[in-house]
Amino acid sequence: MSETTTPAPATATQEAEILAALGKRLIVLVGMMGAGKSTIGRRLAARLNLPFIDADTEIEAAAGMTIPEIFELHGEPHFRDGEARVIARLLDGGPAVLATGGGSFMREETRRRVAEKAVSIWLKADPDIILRRVRRRADRPLLQTADPAATVSRLLSEREPVYRHADVTIASRDVPHDRIVDECLDALRARLAAPAIDTASTAR
Ligand code: S3P
Repeated sequence: MSETTTPAPATATQEAEILAALGKRLIVLVGMMGAGKSTIGRRLAARLNLPFIDADTEIEAAAGMTIPEIFELHGEPHFRDGEARVIARLLDGGPAVLATGGGSFMREETRRRVAEKAVSIWLKADPDIILRRVRRRADRPLLQTADPAATVSRLLSEREPVYRHADVTIASRDVPHDRIVDECLDALRARLAAPAIDTASTAR
């Protein structure tokens, strides 16, 4: 049948299939600062009619201060411990779409929890896109350095081998947001809910 061989458009059926296969799991967006995790996550959640949660906002609410304040007053290790705790709690509250801070997936324990309770999407962005986007705001303590381009490049080389462990990878680039969301939906469906009929038709 033709619909088993052509890429499925984002339809209500596709979205229902994803939701059914997701169950109580979350969709977790990982990747660098500026990759578009919150922007895409919010739109993806709206398409699936799921709640959207931003881990950074939740961390700030739990701490009663902003992320730059946490870094300044308590340091990065303290922030990372709080971040891991908050994400662990949020992972018990699915189904939802969760945008995580760019460093959170570097913690092994968080990756294990995400693998258990979520389907993860790495939004992979090139350094020039990241830099252009993060330059618009000064609220990322890790990038308040003399040479933000060198910092982004170092972080990418440390982190990309780890982000690669996400279930799905989507290239984040300067195209309309809905196109990236469509690609996320296609990839999620393929990962979660590939109908049995697809396997049967390719086996023939
Ligand atoms: C960080 C990313 C930030 C925030 C904090 C540290 C990182 O979140 O958690 O500034 O280590 O990459 P976003 O990825 O949402 O910018």
